[in-house]
Amino acid sequence: MSDFLARALTLLPAETAHRAAITGLKAGFGPKPAGAADPVLRTAIAGIELDHPVGLAAGFDKNAEAPDALLRAGFAFVEVGAVTPRPQAGNAKPRLFRLRADRAVINRMGFNNEGLDAVKARLEARQENPAPGVVGVNLGANKDSEDRAGDYAILLKALSGLADFFTVNISSPNTAGLRDLQTGQALDDLLARVNEARWAEPVFLKLAPDLADGDVEPILEAVGRHRLSGLIVSNTTLARPDTLRSAHKGEQGGLSGAPLFDRSTALLKAFRRAAGPDLPIIGVGGIDGPQAAYAKIRAGANAVQLYTALVYQGPGLAIEIRDGLAERLRADGYERLADAVGVDL
Ligand SMILES: Cc1cc2nc3c(=O)[nH]c(=O)nc-3n(C[C@H](O)[C@H](O)[C@H](O)COP(=O)(O)O)c2cc1C
Repeated sequence: MSDFLARALTLLPAETAHRAAITGLKAGFGPKPAGAADPVLRTAIAGIELDHPVGLAAGFDKNAEAPDALLRAGFAFVEVGAVTPRPQAGNAKPRLFRLRADRAVINRMGFNNEGLDAVKARLEARQENPAPGVVGVNLGANKDSEDRAGDYAILLKALSGLADFFTVNISSPNTAGLRDLQTGQALDDLLARVNEARWAEPVFLKLAPDLADGDVEPILEAVGRHRLSGLIVSNTTLARPDTLRSAHKGEQGGLSGAPLFDRSTALLKAFRRAAGPDLPIIGVGGIDGPQAAYAKIRAGANAVQLYTALVYQGPGLAIEIRDGLAERLRADGYERLADAVGVDL
């Protein structure tokens, strides 16, 4: 898909445009294959080698339909999902809203996905001829599950060997009660079961930007106790900054895009400060260009992900950020990306 086509898609209703983008990617209409990344960008996170630190955040390719096309479009890593054990329809439409003037989106999709069996079959099929790059799977719990922690265990066991990393997503605001798993005994129980079920691949915990400062230490303790590999900071927010101007700003759901940048970056800094330099952290939230990606890295992210800015700028943005990041690192005299991680703290 050329950037022209990508922009044309923004004239369609949001969810229709999204479906068309996935269909186009699957059919081979992605951006031209990208050239090699500047070696200054080579890095590793939780033992995963990356050509560069720019990844696609979860929720774009929920059913693992196009991970290879997305890798070829220039992302170093692609997180598919969220997948839940059983297929799930999600919330009633409309459930995805563009806040164009704010460069933002509100979504209340509610983990719509085809379920574990369908995603597993696609991940198996791609093993024959995978594009170079890293694929992770974002894991969610079914809305009506009696044992949500058990859902993550089921998914980890079933998908082990089929992805390079997994994300335990307990931060979607669109499944009632899910975010309660982020604190206290519920978090401890969840991570104990995750640790028991996991096998070889790194497992990240994805957190909400709406956590309180006081939640940082207990989360880090639980993550350390149960040997989770790292954090993804952050998911969408329930907050509505005063600056929002778009008609849809009052819709229920999670807000993402530019207005999320400050809060998600502040939380990233809080986690990096408290955790020290060694904990792998992926920074997400409001990245819309090389400058914002560089700021996340300087705030403590080892790698970054984005989603909402693609809605407005098209998939060519991955390469634009990758190359702009290399320029900035070199201009500031860095020889390796890792040396810039957390320098703004
Ligand atoms: C339509 C939509 C669906 C999403 N679905 C998921 C999901 O299934 N799992 C998840 O962990 N995050 C999901 N997210 C959150 C993104 O992965 C990301 O954390 C968030 O949008 C902030 O990044 P951004 O500002 O670059 O979009 C979704 C976001 C959007 C906009």
